[in-house]
Amino acid sequence: MGLICVFNGPNLNLLGTREPEIYGHDTLDDVESLCAEKCRILGHAMRFTQSNSEGDLVTWIQEARGKADGIVINPAAFTHTSIAIRDALAAFDGPFVEIHISNVHARESFRHHSYLSDIAAGVIVGCGVAGYGYAIDAVSRLIDKG
Ligand code: DQA
Repeated sequence: MGLICVFNGPNLNLLGTREPEIYGHDTLDDVESLCAEKCRILGHAMRFTQSNSEGDLVTWIQEARGKADGIVINPAAFTHTSIAIRDALAAFDGPFVEIHISNVHARESFRHHSYLSDIAAGVIVGCGVAGYGYAIDAVSRLIDKG
């Protein structure tokens, strides 16, 4: 049994009401329930958090060192801007999977670049909130492989 941290970046607290034509109608609570159920089935403990602050995300990633076995992260807009989050993830000792609800590659060009994707174990985009479950599956397999 390992610990999987699921970290969420800015504006994801508004899921369900924020641009539902892009992000759907599920709320962040719904996403947390989906992730908790997936972790329960796979036999992992879970920490699920969201912040609008870049510093919180950096701190949580640092705290995961030596404690969490894997990370699933939707850094939201920080994906496209944050070297600090990249550096924190590079210092994490386990696998992380980057997830985006929308297909960022089919959207504005500033969303096409990620500061994280080239150091991620995997990237899931455009699968809606179901992508969180796929990301947990992927991290879980990597943890089990050792
Ligand atoms: C997002 C995509 C980002 O470009 C955007 O800034 C978000 C959400 C997604 O889940 O599709 O806030 O990460």
